[in-house]
Amino acid sequence: MEIVPQFIFPSAVWATLFDDRESFNASLLDQIYRLRDQDPNGVANTNVRGWQSPNNLQSLEEFQEFSLRVVQVCQRIGESQNFMPNLSFNLQAWANINPPGASNKIHFHANCHFSGIYYISLKAPECGSIFFRDPRVASRMLTYPIAKPTEFTTEEVRMKPEEGRMYVFPGWLEHGVEENRSDQDRVSIAFNVLCGMRDSG
Ligand SMILES: [Fe+2]
Repeated sequence: MEIVPQFIFPSAVWATLFDDRESFNASLLDQIYRLRDQDPNGVANTNVRGWQSPNNLQSLEEFQEFSLRVVQVCQRIGESQNFMPNLSFNLQAWANINPPGASNKIHFHANCHFSGIYYISLKAPECGSIFFRDPRVASRMLTYPIAKPTEFTTEEVRMKPEEGRMYVFPGWLEHGVEENRSDQDRVSIAFNVLCGMRDSG
């Protein structure tokens, strides 16, 4: 007797790796440390012992190429999910410098279709991973009596950090970042994207 599972209501994390990551990341890294020099306190948010820029990278000239790439990635994902044509993709992006000992508390991003992270400089795997929590966990009556988790029973999934790697996921997917246990900063840019109908007037 064959029993065939069909996975319904899947959650997705989309991944891409930029071919020109070495040169692209070198220039982003310079710009991000320059931002921190200008604003050493940064913004307090989910970051624990880290530095976070304001959510305005998308309006800074030196991050235009980055912003364009994020929008292109989200457009491609939207196409794959039959989004309407000619949508606007409104981006908010911010930089993170998480030194050794820093982490990000678990959170989600309301009011956006996509959230994501792009890794610029880190030492993996010691720098810690982003982890996602099953959004259905809160509504479960029981946990499963498992010896080893499967894709179906797991409550948490880690994704590997890698310089030049971007992960994009739905804004409602709860996530956090493990503590940086390496001896160097973990530098990344996080973002939210809200898709909307263009003004036809
Ligand atoms: Fe986040």
